[in-house]
Amino acid sequence: MVRLVDVYKAYRIGSRYLVVLRGVSLEVERGESVAILGKSGSGKTTLLNIIAGLDRPSYGHVYVDGVDLVYLSEDELARFRRSRVSFIFQSYNLISELTALENVMLAQKARFGRTDREEALRTLRLVGLEGHANHRPHELSGGQQQRVAIAMALAKSPKLIIADEPTGALDSKTREQVLGLLLDVKDRLGTTLLVVTHDVDVARRMERIVRIRDGEIVEAGGGSRGRGGASRALPLLSRRAGRAELASAVAHATRTFSALALATSRQPGSGACGSPR
Ligand SMILES: Nc1ncnc2c1ncn2[C@@H]1O[C@H](COP(=O)(O)OP(=O)(O)OP(=O)(O)O)[C@@H](O)[C@H]1O
Ligand SMILES: [Mg+2]
Repeated sequence: MVRLVDVYKAYRIGSRYLVVLRGVSLEVERGESVAILGKSGSGKTTLLNIIAGLDRPSYGHVYVDGVDLVYLSEDELARFRRSRVSFIFQSYNLISELTALENVMLAQKARFGRTDREEALRTLRLVGLEGHANHRPHELSGGQQQRVAIAMALAKSPKLIIADEPTGALDSKTREQVLGLLLDVKDRLGTTLLVVTHDVDVARRMERIVRIRDGEIVEAGGGSRGRGGASRALPLLSRRAGRAELASAVAHATRTFSALALATSRQPGSGACGSPR
């Protein structure tokens, strides 16, 4: 369902590059639940954003449901985000002027181009909020807002749900409800679930735990399912390459692949191996 091959991400800060992901390779099967665990600043959100098509890697390949996101245009990527994946953020990202029901209908509209009020109500019932359909976000608690965000995610009938600290702001009881809901959906619909968290207790509820440290996967979890988890350095570098060496290599790769991508964008179908950035 998700396959990352040697993904690097570097951000340019002034004249320097900060390498945030360093050769991440990872495979997640359809219907699997995976926790991505790591300290603050280790690159978890960056990784999720790349899988969700919200950001592009500096180098490497990102396959979701068989499509390499690296080759999609901005428009294709936007379509991918609308139709193929649901994200749940720590800050719930609800539209404050709209009621809970209208927020869910907005997600339907984005996904299917139309709304279905009854179906939206059913989805709200699923997250236990049928009684709050007409509340605006400021009239809901944090946990209730998070459940609306989950209802919005579900309204898209996604094959892949990506959640960044979905329970970070919740008390333990609400955390359980929200987690239970996500796992229930995964079981019933066979949805693939990727959850970023700092919280070991949340991580343990998933089938597999992947640990990330300083932009590298240090543990891919789960026996044979963990294959592809070990990080590899760029081919031109040894595994022991220092940060400065790595940064300059990624900068070089970024320039090279930007040029390649530019060239190949005029020749659709011919293959560069990295994406512009
Ligand atoms: N747009 C950006 N420009 C420059 N640096 C960035 C950008 N986005 C993230 N970073 C840097 O990348 C590193 C990883 O950030 P990321 O948000 O992926 O961490 P995280 O593991 O999600 O942390 P947290 O648990 O605190 O959310 C951090 O050092 C951050 O400062
Ligand atoms: Mg984060």
